[in-house]
Amino acid sequence: MTSVLFVCLGNICRSPLAEGLLRHHVEQAGLSGRFLIDSAGTGGWHAGEGPDRRSVAVAARYGVDISSQCARQLHREDFYRFDLILGLDRDNVRNIRKIAPDDTTATIGLYLEEALGLIKDVPDPYYGDTRDFDAVYRLCDEASAALLRTLTKPSR
Ligand code: 4NP
Repeated sequence: MTSVLFVCLGNICRSPLAEGLLRHHVEQAGLSGRFLIDSAGTGGWHAGEGPDRRSVAVAARYGVDISSQCARQLHREDFYRFDLILGLDRDNVRNIRKIAPDDTTATIGLYLEEALGLIKDVPDPYYGDTRDFDAVYRLCDEASAALLRTLTKPSR
């Protein structure tokens, strides 16, 4: 079993898409039983809410349903429950590291670096428009597909 937690600021725009798209690619590959996939926010302001309607809408346009996700804040147990905790941007990674317990068993990294080898952020679309959400969707689609290939390489 491989467990992956995606973390952004609010857990309503970007990390729900990264989560939904890794789950989508895992399902397409027939590997659902081998992955635990979740997302969380470094902030807890939106805990208990569904994803931002613009993230739900862009995913739906591409035939992916993320509407049943529920936002939550990153917590201590996550550092022992997940193999991989990936921040959507470098601020998120800094904040994840700040609260990580000394004996964390998780590998903490930057999503696009782990997935695509790029030291780049997934831009926060919260104050943006439909085009910004579309760009985040396409980036997460490419990155989560690449991440799955990395995580299923025989050498791992
Ligand atoms: P996310 O986007 O981190 O991709 O979920 C944001 C969501 C909420 C806020 C900022 C970014 N906010 O300021 O409430």
